[in-house]
Amino acid sequence: MANAHVQMKPDPCSFIIFGATGDLAHRLVIPALYNLAAANLLPERFCVVGIARKGMASAEMSDSLMRGLRKFATRPVDEAVAKRLFECVTAVEADPSDPASFDAMNERLERLEAARNTGGNRLFYLATPPGAFLPISKQLARTGMLAENGAWRRLVVEKPFGTDLASAKALNTALLKLVDEHQIYRIDHYLGKETVQNILVLRFANGMFEPIWNRNHIDHVQITVDEKLGVGHRGSFYDATGALRDMVPNHLFQLLSLVTMEPPARFDAHAVRTEKAEVLSAIQIQSEQEALYNSVRGQYCRGRVGDTEIEEYLKTPDVRPGSTTETYAALKLTIDNWRWAGVPFYLRTGKALAVKRTEIAIKFKQAPFAMFRDTPVDRLSQNYLVISTEPTEGIELQFNTKVPGPTINIDGVEMKFRYKDYFKAEPSTGYETLIYDCMIGDNILFQRADSVEAGWQAVQPFLDAWKNAGGRGLQPYKAGCEGPEAANALLTRDGRSWRKFG
Ligand code: BG6
Repeated sequence: MANAHVQMKPDPCSFIIFGATGDLAHRLVIPALYNLAAANLLPERFCVVGIARKGMASAEMSDSLMRGLRKFATRPVDEAVAKRLFECVTAVEADPSDPASFDAMNERLERLEAARNTGGNRLFYLATPPGAFLPISKQLARTGMLAENGAWRRLVVEKPFGTDLASAKALNTALLKLVDEHQIYRIDHYLGKETVQNILVLRFANGMFEPIWNRNHIDHVQITVDEKLGVGHRGSFYDATGALRDMVPNHLFQLLSLVTMEPPARFDAHAVRTEKAEVLSAIQIQSEQEALYNSVRGQYCRGRVGDTEIEEYLKTPDVRPGSTTETYAALKLTIDNWRWAGVPFYLRTGKALAVKRTEIAIKFKQAPFAMFRDTPVDRLSQNYLVISTEPTEGIELQFNTKVPGPTINIDGVEMKFRYKDYFKAEPSTGYETLIYDCMIGDNILFQRADSVEAGWQAVQPFLDAWKNAGGRGLQPYKAGCEGPEAANALLTRDGRSWRKFG
């Protein structure tokens, strides 16, 4: 997240993609590189190296990536820019089960670097299934490719980072034996979203929010990430993962930590990431019994989302018969620190729901009623500050106002800020800032080992409790609704309710 006034060109480097023939590279990484090229934000001396199976020629790799760009580009493709980008694509073979191939890869990269004068800086982007992260990193380390001797070496790792606390810890420990923390860029694509980055600006660049941003004024916080799509063709991955693992310790906790962290002393990676890790580690760790009481999990049945008929989850290809994997999760959490003690945080996320909606709704405490006791007003409407990413990017404030007329009649109104009304932004993949930051060596938007582990630690009791409960407590919900009824009960028992959409 470089300051706009000092936006700089990254150092010369090689951008080496493992999994270059896969979906992620075609759909997001290459279109994002293209957008950076179009904005003149790629290094002057640069090359893209696609790690490929045996015998794949550079021209074949480059054609395949070009097809990906044409299909997934977020803006019209300028042929001259694309040509310059794809001219530099080289296919190189490497297979972690064949260590010698990594020695050959290193030699090939050295020759390429000499020809392109990239100075030996290398960014290794692991756009691979998570099982490959460690075997690839081990080979890169063995061949000395991760050693920073006068040139930088960086490793970009996609999600999921572990599948529970133990596996995330093991992966961190193993990786940190091979590379230093400052070389690892753990991606969470939510941090590439403008609205998400804006949370810190909203809180800390305005004097008016921070004084009321605490337990004295905030009643509770709701974080909602609802999706309309079902699981589709991702049955095998999703059935082993579920809504909680897929979304909560990563995406929802990014939102949670930005909303709840203390002000960092400086706007730099160390200070910001330290505060985020600190607040995540203050989430109260629940017992399994508490976790069951404070959560709801659901699985969708057949239904309609808009005009689309969605088949029940259990009929998704590659989903195990009788699977109890949740496609919906709602949790109640608390944060044990001075600022947030006693403030509940309600989180929910699910697939095949009525609307696509990503929002953080901060509900402020009610004003005392006394002053309006003798008026027709029996209930003041709720004061919410809503930060939303989907369906529109913006911020909304709900407050009470007097309805014009001779009596005091009060109604709730909304003040809405929408990004698109103020700023014109080129459509993007959301990966541009993240990739650019990797190249300039700014890891402010990437997850550090401690916050990844703190996230898993907070969700682990829910994972354990649900596993031990098997199918007991799994709530069916109809595709196209707002989620299982029991998710409403999670709030009504506290005298609260989920914010209505719209
Ligand atoms: C991914 C999950 O990380 O995030 C998907 O694996 C989910 O299951 C996606 O659909 C949601 O991202 P977004 O940006 O559409 O909210």
